[in-house]
Amino acid sequence: MRHETSADDRLPAVAFTGAATAAGNAPSILNTQPWRWRVHPERLDLFAARSRQLAAGDPQGRQLMLSCGAALHHARIALAADGWATHVTRFPQASDPDLLATLVVNGRTPVTMEALRLAHATRIRHTDRRPVSEQSIPEVGLRAVATAACAEGNLQVLGADDLAELGSAAGRAAAVEAGDPQIASELTYWTGRATLSGAGLPASVLPEHPTQTTVPSRNFGRPGTLPVGVGHDRTAVYALLFGDGDGPLDWLRAGEALSAAWLTATTIGVSVVPLSGVVEVAATWHTLRHLLAGLGHPYLALRLGIADPEQHGPPPRTPRLAVAQVIDTSAVPADQL
Ligand SMILES: Cc1cc2nc3c(=O)[nH]c(=O)nc-3n(C[C@H](O)[C@H](O)[C@H](O)COP(=O)(O)O)c2cc1C
Repeated sequence: MRHETSADDRLPAVAFTGAATAAGNAPSILNTQPWRWRVHPERLDLFAARSRQLAAGDPQGRQLMLSCGAALHHARIALAADGWATHVTRFPQASDPDLLATLVVNGRTPVTMEALRLAHATRIRHTDRRPVSEQSIPEVGLRAVATAACAEGNLQVLGADDLAELGSAAGRAAAVEAGDPQIASELTYWTGRATLSGAGLPASVLPEHPTQTTVPSRNFGRPGTLPVGVGHDRTAVYALLFGDGDGPLDWLRAGEALSAAWLTATTIGVSVVPLSGVVEVAATWHTLRHLLAGLGHPYLALRLGIADPEQHGPPPRTPRLAVAQVIDTSAVPADQL
């Protein structure tokens, strides 16, 4: 079903500012929010914020780029839900590799119910690290998530036979990362400052003890305060985002696919938890490549499941940076905002 919106005199700069604000809700590695937006009267630029890149945990910038891709997709969804036809140019200037994308609008477009649903999902989506329920994801739901991801990139759902190998790779990755003092100190930094700074992870969203699971989740190096119970992730399904290349554009597009999958999952009650350690440790990256059996390069593993109704509501929200820290509107005359 479509709702026609009448042409109106709203200015693109207002829409761009709204889209960049909505993109602040996007997921990011350790909640680093490694993006910066610059609003112009006629375009919106997305930059990588290298000061928030994980030097030890993400030296290539893959996780940064995935995060920025998710933010880019959130901005696209916000513009679509606001009735704007959008054109995106990724990496528009070879001379500036940190200018990741430029968005322009090509006039007004009808707002679809799907755009409205996804825009709503940007406001409620979150990472729930508690074990999933005993209820399996219905086949149709899994297909919807995979279809959404594949409209932007590639997602391979792993079979039950692959889980032991994924689980042992994730365990090995966690041990390698725990034994690396630089990665450990980065984790300490990003898990110790969220309440004050609006970036990083507060204790309230981290499990109070490791959860029972076939595939170990990230070891954050410290227990949190999130009660996790004794459930086991038996019904969880695992999937890999992947693609042909292994460079910044591939990762940015994979981030858009991550957002598309996660927002669709949110609309149908499917919980998503990314597992990035297993991609960042070289030896376990090769295991994922093997699991993909020649399909392509792995970018991110995902745990999918139905959140446990026994848990009392969603976990607390992870904070965000102040809008002024990530959005620069100084290029827009005041009467256009
Ligand atoms: C590229 C990427 C990698 C991530 N890796 C992990 C991970 O390994 N383990 C985890 O628990 N969460 C992971 N996350 C989830 C982030 O920690 C989460 O999005 C962030 O803290 C913001 O919280 P929110 O998703 O609840 O808004 C990842 C997210 C992204 C985008």
